[in-house]
Amino acid sequence: MKILLYDAKKYDRESFERITPKYEDDIHVEYMEDDLQLETAQYAKGYDAVCAFVSSDLSKPVLEILSNVGVKLILLRCAGFNNVDLDSAKEFGMTVLRVPGYSPEAVAEMAITLAMAGNRHVHKAYIRVRENNFSLNGLTGLNLFGKTAGIVGTGKIGAAMCKICHGFGMKVLGYDLYPNKNLDFVEYVDLDTLLQQSDLISLHCPLTDDSYHMINEETIGKMKDGVILVNTSRGALINTEDLIKGIRAKKFQSVGLDVYEEETRNVFENREDDIMESSITSRLLSFPNVIVTSHQAFLTAEALEAISEITMENAKGYLTGNIDEANRV
Ligand code: NAI
Repeated sequence: MKILLYDAKKYDRESFERITPKYEDDIHVEYMEDDLQLETAQYAKGYDAVCAFVSSDLSKPVLEILSNVGVKLILLRCAGFNNVDLDSAKEFGMTVLRVPGYSPEAVAEMAITLAMAGNRHVHKAYIRVRENNFSLNGLTGLNLFGKTAGIVGTGKIGAAMCKICHGFGMKVLGYDLYPNKNLDFVEYVDLDTLLQQSDLISLHCPLTDDSYHMINEETIGKMKDGVILVNTSRGALINTEDLIKGIRAKKFQSVGLDVYEEETRNVFENREDDIMESSITSRLLSFPNVIVTSHQAFLTAEALEAISEITMENAKGYLTGNIDEANRV
């Protein structure tokens, strides 16, 4: 089997090259720096599978090209699959496999990092001290101990976040379509109650038609003043225009975004010489209580190792007719 791994960054190559020798009799991986999109799909000619990531374009026109050049297998090296047109993949007879739970703790630990860094103004303090400014004005934070955390989506990552918040001494509220019975310290409530009672709200549900823009003017209006909001799931869970209105109205103690709408062109790219054409990104960056990172919540050594291992096992499973059904999309 020949796999073309798109959007290959240095850390991707390193983690895959550590593991691929184990599979070299049957599976050969080649790397391409460009991401998968309309213009680059044809490069997959001669490959059986493509390996794609969160910002890859897997819409119908791209899948059609891949199918025409003989690709039968899409290996997502991520958990989310909102960028894949599944109906078209089915129509073209393609198998789509993903890595559902490579390291939930990696993402949850980034979520609490964003909550704490924003709440305690670490991003401002770091710059200030480097400029020999040791003033503390404007750096007052809030204790998390004794406060209420509201976790939206309590699957693998949300559950890890619930445990972290519990460890901080917080009361933990959960909202999920399917409550997690293993979390006996979590009080499940409806979304409105969670929004109204939480001091920290962290989003961990997938992006679906139901969850699209679940954080909007109306739901922001239900939140407590001075709430800390964190999104490490998918950008479009939040209506960014409404979020910006809420930030301007001083609703938030801090906002931490590892994902945001319109991130796709930026994700994992060095664009420091470019003029930022997206006003959403620039406006978000203009607020002192907002921290934006570039979809890096997954990025730990342990997670990269697990991603490469599970992706190669997915390829092998396809090859031998032993697909792990839990990884099929
Ligand atoms: P999971 O499938 O284990 O858990 C998702 C939970 O959300 C489930 O319990 C499900 O019942 C619940 N859910 C689904 N729709 C919902 C809705 N409308 N309202 C409330 N709850 C809902 O998924 P996991 O592994 O915890 O990942 C969650 C999300 O995190 C992924 O979909 C992905 O988008 C994102 N992610 C982000 C990463 C990053 O680097 N920033 C890395 C990995 C995942």
